[in-house]
Amino acid sequence: MSIRPTTIVVLAAGKGTRMKSALPKVLHPVAGLSMLGHTLALARGFGATRVAVVVGPGMEAVGAEARRHVPTASIHLQAEQRGTADAVAAARPVLGDGAGDVLVLFADTPLLAASSLAGLTGALAAGADAAVLGFEAADPKGYGRLLTAPDGRLEAIREEKDASPGERAVRLCNSGVMAFAAGRLESVLPRIGNANAAGEYYLTDAIALICADGGRAAVVTCPEEETLGVNDRAQLARAEALWQAKRRLAAMRDGVTMTAPETVWLSHDTRLGRDVMLEPNVFIGPGVAIGDGVVVRANSHLEGATIAAGARIGPFARLRPGAAIEQDVHVGNFVEVKAARMEAGSKANHLAYIGDGRVGAGANIGAGTIFCNYDGFNKNFTDVGAGAFVGSNSSLVAPVKIGDGAYVGSGSVITKNVEAGALALERSEQQARPGWAERFRTMMARRKAAAKGG
Ligand code: UD1
Ligand code: CA
Repeated sequence: MSIRPTTIVVLAAGKGTRMKSALPKVLHPVAGLSMLGHTLALARGFGATRVAVVVGPGMEAVGAEARRHVPTASIHLQAEQRGTADAVAAARPVLGDGAGDVLVLFADTPLLAASSLAGLTGALAAGADAAVLGFEAADPKGYGRLLTAPDGRLEAIREEKDASPGERAVRLCNSGVMAFAAGRLESVLPRIGNANAAGEYYLTDAIALICADGGRAAVVTCPEEETLGVNDRAQLARAEALWQAKRRLAAMRDGVTMTAPETVWLSHDTRLGRDVMLEPNVFIGPGVAIGDGVVVRANSHLEGATIAAGARIGPFARLRPGAAIEQDVHVGNFVEVKAARMEAGSKANHLAYIGDGRVGAGANIGAGTIFCNYDGFNKNFTDVGAGAFVGSNSSLVAPVKIGDGAYVGSGSVITKNVEAGALALERSEQQARPGWAERFRTMMARRKAAAKGG
C-alpha cells in the first residue's frame, strides 16, 4: 500500500499490430485474465488514489475492461500514437493538483511485481524526483538505455535509435515503468519535443529535463523476466509460461503437491487449499476454488467450480461453471458437471452428465446417467434427493425430481417425479426363452450351409 497519494497512469493506446488480432493487444489473456487486468490488479493492490487508462481510437472494449477492474478509473483517448509522452499527456486532466506521485505503467507488461512498484515509490519517498525501473538485459537490443553518473544517479534515458555506439553498449535498460514525484511530470511534459530518430514524443526524455531542473533521478532494478513486454503471440506464450512457473512454485510452497508441475495450468484467481494433490495435465480455468485435501486426478479440466475438502475429482473429469462439489464427493472419469450442486458424500463415478441440478447428500449416480436438462429452448432442473440411487444408463428428463432415498432402475427414462423411498422403473419387461440360443444357432448354421451349397 502506498502512503503518499499516487496516481497510476496505464498506457494502453498502442495498436499492437504484431499480434495480428482483431482483439486489442492488452485484452489478450495471461492465466485467464487480460494483460490490462493484470496491470490494473497491480494498481488496485498498490492502493493508488487514482487510476487513469490511456486508450487509442476505437478501443471502447479496452475502456470497458478497465472499468470492470477499477470502476473509478478515468479513461483518456490518445487520438494519434505520437509516443509515450504524448500518451501520458492525454491523461493530463488527472495530473493536476492532488495527483500526488505519478506512476506510469504499460498495459502489455503482465508480469510486473508489486515489490518493484514499492521500490520506485520508496525511491521517491527517499527524496528522488523521478525513479525508473531498470534491469540488466541479456540482450539490450530495442530498449532505452539508462545512462547513469558514477554515483549511480540516473542522468538520462537514450532510446536505441538515438544512442551512440558507446551508449548502446550499456546493458542497464528501461523497463518502461517510471515514477515521478508530485508536480515533476507536469512541469516537464510540455517541454518534451519530438526531435529524435523516431519523430516521437518520448516519455523517457523527462529524466534529462528533470535533472536539468536540478532534480534527482534514481534507478531501481528488478529481474528481467518481470519486465517482459508482450508484442506478439510468441511473447504472449512466454509471459504465460513465466506466470505459470511462478504460480506453481508459490502453490507448492503453500502446501500443494504436483507430480508434474510443468503440466498443470492455473488461473489468475485459482484458490488452492492445503494438501491439495494435482496430478499431471490438470487444467484449471478461471473461478476455481479447491479445498483442503482434494485430489484432482490426471487430465481433468475445471473452470468456475468450487470443490470442498476431501473431494476426489477425475481422472478425466470436467467441471464447468457453477459446479459446486461439496465435502467428500467423488466425481470420476468422463463425468461432466455444470451448474449443479453435488452435496456431501454423493458420487458420480463414471460417464455421466450432471447439468442444472442437485444431487443430494450421499446419493449415487450410476454410470451413463444423463440429466436431460435442455429441451431445445430452456434449461430445466433435475433434483435428486439425499441418499437416492440412480441406476446406470438412466435419463432424467428435466424438470424432474427424484425423492430422498428413491431408486431408479437402470436404463430408465424418467419423465415424472419419483416419490421418496419409491422404485421407479421405465423399461420393458425382460423375457426368458429357455433353450432358444441352441435352436437359433442350429437354424442359422443350416441356412448358411444351404446358401453355400446353392
Ligand atoms: C519503451 C521505452 C523504452 C523501454 C521500452 C521497454 C519510450 C520512449 N521508450 O519503448 O525506453 O526500454 O518501452 O519495453 O517510452 N503507447 C501509447 N501511445 C503511444 C505510444 C505508446 O499508449 O503513442 C503505449 C503502448 O501501448 C505500450 C507503451 O506505451 O504499452 C510502450 O510503447 P512502445 O511503443 O512499445 O515503446 P518501446 O518502443 O517499446
Ligand atoms: Ca514495447
